[in-house]
Amino acid sequence: MKLDHIGIAVKDLEESRKFYGQVLGLKVSEPEDLPDRQLKICMVDMGVGGANIELLWPTHPDSAVAKFIDKKGPGMHHICYRVDDVAKKLEEIKAAGVKLIDEAPKPGAHHTLVAFIHPKSSGGVLTELSQPA
Ligand code: CO
Repeated sequence: MKLDHIGIAVKDLEESRKFYGQVLGLKVSEPEDLPDRQLKICMVDMGVGGANIELLWPTHPDSAVAKFIDKKGPGMHHICYRVDDVAKKLEEIKAAGVKLIDEAPKPGAHHTLVAFIHPKSSGGVLTELSQPA
């Protein structure tokens, strides 16, 4: 497993894109719409071998990320590990008694397959597993 990205919940996507792009001088992708998750996502590309930053902007007040921002404010939301086979990894960790948010992989950004582990089972850190396209 490798650290793939860190997800950051943002209140203002354009302001965050400016911070990472213009202020820090990093490469920020165009927003990708994920309507089923009520999100727009931008990736901050940290280059080969680096873990990326994923900016998460809620497109609906009822979305999980909007509720997160209401409760805790904007900021670090989750960490994501890259795995070769997310379905297989889910079976392994389920067998270890870990509480999952997603019992099966679902489509993520950039044609990945992803699943989330419940923070109750991961020391309070919302944890995503991602299988590249
Ligand atoms: Co993510």
